[in-house]
Amino acid sequence: MPGEKFSVTPYEVKGQIDYDRLRVLFGTQDLTDELRQELARLAGAPLPPLLSRGVYYSHRDLSQILSAIAGKKPFFLYSGRGPSGPMHTAHLAPFELCRWFQERFGASMYVQITDDEKFWLRPQYTREATQQWGLENLLDILAVGFDPKRTRVFFDTRSIATMYSLAVDVAKRIPYSTVKAVFGFPTSTNIGLVFYTALQSVPCFYPSWRTGQPIPCLIPCGIDQDPHFRVTRDVAEPLGYPKPSLIHSQILPGLLGGKMSSSGQEKDNALYLNDRPEEATRKLRNAFTGGRATVEEQRRLGATPEICSVWALWRSKFARDEEEFQQVTADCRSGAMLCGECKAKLTERVLPFLSEHAARREAVRPIAESLILEAAPGSTGPSGGPPIPAP
Ligand code: TRP
Repeated sequence: MPGEKFSVTPYEVKGQIDYDRLRVLFGTQDLTDELRQELARLAGAPLPPLLSRGVYYSHRDLSQILSAIAGKKPFFLYSGRGPSGPMHTAHLAPFELCRWFQERFGASMYVQITDDEKFWLRPQYTREATQQWGLENLLDILAVGFDPKRTRVFFDTRSIATMYSLAVDVAKRIPYSTVKAVFGFPTSTNIGLVFYTALQSVPCFYPSWRTGQPIPCLIPCGIDQDPHFRVTRDVAEPLGYPKPSLIHSQILPGLLGGKMSSSGQEKDNALYLNDRPEEATRKLRNAFTGGRATVEEQRRLGATPEICSVWALWRSKFARDEEEFQQVTADCRSGAMLCGECKAKLTERVLPFLSEHAARREAVRPIAESLILEAAPGSTGPSGGPPIPAP
């Protein structure tokens, strides 16, 4: 939007984001305490940190999903990943949330791997590389612990035979002017990206299309993906499908606090799931914090958790429970805990997480291929059907 000091699209996030303002600009709803409490009540369990600590902060039509749950009707989950390189801890967030929903409510899960999108996006990416990263990333995603019986994967370049008829229906309803306005594409943009929103829409409708029943979809995703789904929601009803519901997260800050000066530092800006222990330790030690210039000042005035990349990690995952999270936050704010100590404590949580993740990733390797929807060689249909979402 002209006049704003920040901008958020699926293809570019710029400036210091004002999340309340963004919700107004995008026209999404506040994820209120009432909605959270209702969800916790239906789940019969406390909410996961991503929901209880405000990382997921906005939604569209969450009540559609709450009604389905309350009425014991099926719904399904959908999230995705554009595979352009290794994944970092923040990339797992939407999938961790999906897993929680799957576990609590028995819902089916669809993962989309958009190797085509990433290939179209950057001239330097090859199709082989984005495909290869797609397989690697899929292992990280499945390592989160989905139930294989209720989980399927759209791997765009491989699943296209399963996806194409729906993509064709969606594409016919999206005028070029919409794509140009929503994504701000210059006229030099390749036509792959212009078409791409049709593909990202397919999983939203797929279960309804297959079963002939309207089955609502819940998409946990970063707020930057909302523009795609605004377009999807506009075409849903004309096509006879429910509009997908969304819950949106804030964009987690990088370890360098958005202050990268040279491109070589990019790798240091996040904790990658495949970082060696020494690497992860070093990155955390150098991470940007909300601390003061001197120890004396910090003891006296305290630090600022809201701007701290280390606090963001405690918040999104590593604080074990609310009590610990509140304690870390209070000790930071009061100056009782200095940044060095806080980083050392966090490192003790991060290293075991990384090694456990690596083990889970190996454990899912043998089943990953079998979850990808694709046409069997020589046949015209998908090999094995995806699961029909369970009530
Ligand atoms: N476009 C997303 C990306 O670049 C990938 C994606 C596909 C996705 N489908 C999704 C993300 C659904 C969230 C929800 O990373």
